[in-house]
Amino acid sequence: MNRKRVVSGMRPTGKLHLGHLVGALQNWERLQHQYDCFYFVADWHALTSEYADTAGITAAAMDNIADWIGAGIDPEKSTIFIQSLVPEHAELYLLLQMITPISWLERVPTYKEQQEQLAEKDLSNLGFLGYPLLQTADVAIYDAHYIPVGEDQVPHLELSREVVRRFNNFYPGASLVEPQPLLTPTPRLPGLDNRKMSKSYGNTIDLSDSAEDVVKKVRQMYTDPNRVRADIPGTVEGNPVFIYHDAFNPNTAEVEDLKSRYRAGKVGDVEVKTKLSAAINAMLDPIRERRAKALARPGDLRDLAIEGSTRARTHAEVIMDRVRGAVGLKY
Ligand code: TRP
Repeated sequence: MNRKRVVSGMRPTGKLHLGHLVGALQNWERLQHQYDCFYFVADWHALTSEYADTAGITAAAMDNIADWIGAGIDPEKSTIFIQSLVPEHAELYLLLQMITPISWLERVPTYKEQQEQLAEKDLSNLGFLGYPLLQTADVAIYDAHYIPVGEDQVPHLELSREVVRRFNNFYPGASLVEPQPLLTPTPRLPGLDNRKMSKSYGNTIDLSDSAEDVVKKVRQMYTDPNRVRADIPGTVEGNPVFIYHDAFNPNTAEVEDLKSRYRAGKVGDVEVKTKLSAAINAMLDPIRERRAKALARPGDLRDLAIEGSTRARTHAEVIMDRVRGAVGLKY
């Protein structure tokens, strides 16, 4: 069994929402049937910006892993682990630093963008500059071929490929694998208020939300603002309620019927939204069930993460050994 390896990670910065499900987890779930998948909690990456307040990281890590399991990531099929429990990531990161020009990191577009967007945080630290290089080590330490990520991460993978090439030029025996992005072709889900979905805007439906939470949130969802009465024809295109219907309601006949009546001014928002929350809840129910089961046994969940990390480490150690030899540091 020689399947290509897939590696991806997520920072444990809070609860996961529908954007994570559609943008990452559903894809991670599919990939585990085809590839040797390694999925990890990028807790060191969280620290690059959250270094001043680390209190929530471990709890978020466990909660996120419960969500992954809820979404169908199967610890029997995929290796689920925690970055900081595999110190080889840091060792490779250190070696990569030796050959990486600082200007390459300063040029990564997310670097300046994030500094501007998160102006309330001091992101002039070296760790934040090194973020994409640590990410390079995360995947190179497993000889990963494919990295499922969103569009926003493509510049990081570009840097990874350049760094890996440069490293292999200096140390051919390292034979690090150039990682390729596996783009998730997903519809952009807007937030409930039609702004970008973000927990800082409070406009998300979380995987941990109860059925009642979902009903309440959907009831307050932004729709066509011109439709002040049910008999006014409405716009379906770009309307968050219908974007969500398309994403989560498997009953396409129902969705098409709602759309045509909406366009004709023959359906009330209440009916459209009631059917949407029912569809979202039906989709979330099995996720909730698996998530709750995982969280009911926190000791087992922790063991699973630790065992996964031990397994990941045995792979990382083989590659690190090869790299140490190639660099000329084998004693
Ligand atoms: N930067 C990624 C994100 O914010 C998280 C991440 C860290 C990652 N290391 C990775 C993703 C390695 C893929 C591979 O989404």
